[in-house]
Amino acid sequence: MTIATGKLRQLVSLERGEIDRSIFSDPEIFELEMTQIFGRSWLFLCHESQIPKKGDFFEAPIGRDNVLVVRQRDGGIKGLLNTCEHRGNAVCRAEEGNVKNFMCTYHGWTYDIAGKLVGVPGLDELYHNDLDLSRNGLREVAQLEVYKGFVFGTLDPQAPPLADFLGRTGRAGLEFLAGQGELEAVPGIQKFVIPCNWKFAVDNLFDWYHPQITHLSAFQTGLLPSPPDITGSKMKISGVAAPDGSELQMPGGVVSGDAGDQLVFIDAFGHAIAGPTVEAFGDFGGLIDHSWRDTPEARANLGPMSRRSIGHVNLFPTCWITPAFNQISMRVPRGPMETEIWWFTFVPKAATPEQRATIIQGAIHSFGPAGFLEQEDGENWAQSTMQTRGTASAKIPQLLQMNLRRGKVVHDSDGLDPPYIECSINEHGQLWTFASWVEWLTGCDWDELRERTTPPDVI
Ligand code: FES
Ligand SMILES: [Fe+2]
Repeated sequence: MTIATGKLRQLVSLERGEIDRSIFSDPEIFELEMTQIFGRSWLFLCHESQIPKKGDFFEAPIGRDNVLVVRQRDGGIKGLLNTCEHRGNAVCRAEEGNVKNFMCTYHGWTYDIAGKLVGVPGLDELYHNDLDLSRNGLREVAQLEVYKGFVFGTLDPQAPPLADFLGRTGRAGLEFLAGQGELEAVPGIQKFVIPCNWKFAVDNLFDWYHPQITHLSAFQTGLLPSPPDITGSKMKISGVAAPDGSELQMPGGVVSGDAGDQLVFIDAFGHAIAGPTVEAFGDFGGLIDHSWRDTPEARANLGPMSRRSIGHVNLFPTCWITPAFNQISMRVPRGPMETEIWWFTFVPKAATPEQRATIIQGAIHSFGPAGFLEQEDGENWAQSTMQTRGTASAKIPQLLQMNLRRGKVVHDSDGLDPPYIECSINEHGQLWTFASWVEWLTGCDWDELRERTTPPDVI
């Protein structure tokens, strides 16, 4: 399936800060995304700590393919497609575990942990030994690589090396987690479905404009802590009235309206980080430990600006790193209007039981199926997705115009900081993601894609 490049480019205007609503529900666009984005991009699969022993496996999606990430006898890792060579049935129904072999439940073909076909019922009597077992093993992903414990895979043999694809923005994002020391994934990945297009979920992770409205109840109930001294640092939101008519005020530290309090990093291939600085955000009522930012490792791996960022990171297309509670979320597209959300939580191996409990409690209460924030967000994403379907509503462009053409991109020379914009709350992260998204859909080769998604001087 192809859509002419000229037509695709009309869907997103970097100049006007507008995008066409149809991209959030059009099945044709969704199919193109499956091949041009999810069929090519490096995608996060799991963390090495989830599969420490020989035969350990974890199943993760790459687009609509299911991949078994399996620890091998020699300690390596393989990414095997979970589909039987015979009739295509899944050879493994569990989401994770430990196996000696994968046996297909349809006719019993059996594969070892390297994917080699080792057993076929009736091989002598029915196949007359004509079946070449060596040619019918499980297929592998085109490339699999590990970066600081995080396992990624791609279906594209032409994709550049993982570290190159991640760029400085992606590597900084992973450093926000890995910089805390050796990590382990907390057992039990939280998974649930929101009836929305995946891009609304991605857009939202850069959106520091909505918490004061969308998440008002989470703060009012005290579910999420406010910084200790909230009276001196309340943010006034002009033009918005509280129910009693007074000017709406929110605890400071959560969002900030001051110029220079927000940092946005944008990079090739559409990776971005957007969010407040450490100074503006604080420690979230003592819940967040920033001390790792001053370690020699952090200084060696991150530039001075990235060390100041508490921002949410999106590894294009769908891997959200949220450093506040040491989490990674995958937004897994299941259809134009359905997205499965996966949440991984990480704890430093050196953490005390109390620190571990604090991180897990913060993570569970914030995002995921029991998280206050994502329930509130999900309602908005579902409604926003629905409103892209109306005959009249679909014609209204979506707006991303905050600070438009005022975002000066600083191309840092120290080699550690990605290109960045320093400003107040903005919509640059979203706009950059959508502008890059269009380039992915055109199907250009990797060199061209890198060039077309290299940030300009102003957005
Ligand atoms: S489909 Fe797997 S053995 Fe037949
Ligand atoms: Fe939110």
